[in-house]
Amino acid sequence: MYKIAGIDLGNDSIKLVLDGAQDALVIPNIVSTGYDRHILQEEDSPLKALDVVVYSPALSQNNKRWFVGTLATELEDSLELEETDNKALSDQSLIVALTALAYQGLVSQSYAGGGLSPMDEVEYVLGTGLPVRTFARFHEAFEKRLTGEHEVTFMSTPQLRGRRVKVRVTRTVCSIEGAAAVFNLATHDNLQVRDDEIYSGCIGVCEIGALTTDLPVIRRMGIDNHFSYGEQLGIATYLDSIIRDVEDVYGYSFPTRAKLVQRVKNRDFVIQRIGEGQASIQGIVDQYFSRAAQRIVELIRKRWKKCPDIQCYYVIGGGAAALKSYILEAAGTMRLRFVSESELQNVRGYLKVAKSRVTQASHAG
Ligand SMILES: Nc1ncnc2c1ncn2[C@@H]1O[C@H](COP(=O)(O)OP(=O)(O)OP(=O)(O)O)[C@@H](O)[C@H]1O
Ligand SMILES: [Mg+2]
Repeated sequence: MYKIAGIDLGNDSIKLVLDGAQDALVIPNIVSTGYDRHILQEEDSPLKALDVVVYSPALSQNNKRWFVGTLATELEDSLELEETDNKALSDQSLIVALTALAYQGLVSQSYAGGGLSPMDEVEYVLGTGLPVRTFARFHEAFEKRLTGEHEVTFMSTPQLRGRRVKVRVTRTVCSIEGAAAVFNLATHDNLQVRDDEIYSGCIGVCEIGALTTDLPVIRRMGIDNHFSYGEQLGIATYLDSIIRDVEDVYGYSFPTRAKLVQRVKNRDFVIQRIGEGQASIQGIVDQYFSRAAQRIVELIRKRWKKCPDIQCYYVIGGGAAALKSYILEAAGTMRLRFVSESELQNVRGYLKVAKSRVTQASHAG
């Protein structure tokens, strides 16, 4: 039996939802080279110590050991994605994605343990997506990369040590970031229409990710080729500036963007300076986030002028959660809408698109 899943290979994190499950699995898109760890005390959850060897025909470096997600976040030489990386072709994103699929496949299997078989197998039909700007050129290559047989072996991961998982992807359906989010907002889980204004209207989207911001325009659930576009700009650019300024002003360095984001999410702005007193970084954060918000609001305003039929703008993605108060302040009376779980709207949309394709295929015989 195969599972249908939505998977979002975000530059910041990989998100995965299985058909029929409410919760999403979110793994930071960070990897580092793996090695035999000295374990003083085993982590209390497999997700805290994803230590894997990955084989895939689509990877350029195979059978290599990787620390993935949280485990890599703690290390100095971990890799976060850069502006120039293309998620359709990135080895790193594929490594994290396959780890997520293997992990989720194991934990959602009805039988636990699987002790007798040397290898577990999970089969998927995947829905996924690419930004507006890369979709046309790369979606076929991206679908090909994910589709096929891959293998993930868990090394020192607690509870999963030594488990080998064959991840078989029989089909991949690629949508457009932002557009899939609108499909999610317009429909119920059973794909029936939930919100007719969104389903039949002309809706603007501003999806703020880590490295890209997508501004598709959706008309009656179809993407408008003329007005949709994407910017090579995301919240990570601003996070990097904040990290640099904090270093210059206070001599305090955040090892990763993820560490700074943790602080921002908890609104915990006080840092401990080495050998000195405490300091607040809130002023620096406010300054860059206000600037980011103004830039975003300007992008939306320009789009809206060019395409006045747009009824309202949805501002989504992780960046929307981070910038909400700053954007509202910069937007004045503009009709912007924010939703909860804004960084999960795409992946839930990808799942629904995959589901609707599978249903169509089975109806066609
Ligand atoms: N509540 C929040 N407060 C502050 N920052 C947040 C919040 N939620 C998410 N972020 C940050 O917003 C950024 C964008 O998150 P998101 O999950 O949308 O990116 P992504 O989908 O991985 O990236 P991309 O869309 O560029 O591929 C990340 O840097 C993330 O850490
Ligand atoms: Mg994204």
